Amino acid sequence: RAPVDVDVSKLPPGQQITVVWHGSPVFITHRTPQALARLRDPALAARLRDPTSRALQQPPYADNWHRSIVPDYGVVVGICTHLGCVPAYAPAPDPATPVANWPGGYACPCHGSKFDLAGRVFIGAPAPYNLPVPPYSMAGPTTIRLG
Ligand code: FES
Repeated sequence: RAPVDVDVSKLPPGQQITVVWHGSPVFITHRTPQALARLRDPALAARLRDPTSRALQQPPYADNWHRSIVPDYGVVVGICTHLGCVPAYAPAPDPATPVANWPGGYACPCHGSKFDLAGRVFIGAPAPYNLPVPPYSMAGPTTIRLG
């Protein structure tokens, strides 16, 4: 099937869009410097079930701390690896209902799995794996080519 180009030049930092690709939602996130700093927090790894994504196959270009080709843009399949619900984008935890040790990212509405902004699942969640990184490339500085 033909690749799909997504223009993210108008996507402001801190925002996310969902693109349907091969029938699946794909989250494309424009990460802020603060979000990148949270992903780099050395204390984060101890709270992740699979900090280096060894439990699932993923593209080699995602084998890094930001799980993406360029740090600024996150690209993950938006299907919870527990039972397939679509996690909600929650770049920062809700101050009204803070979750211990969770800096924000994605929250699954079905059974509470929490992921960081690189789609890595937190210890204690029912989801067994990180959110997958789909096949994609950068067709330009702000064009993400899915497929
Ligand atoms: Fe996401 Fe169960 S489907 S936590």
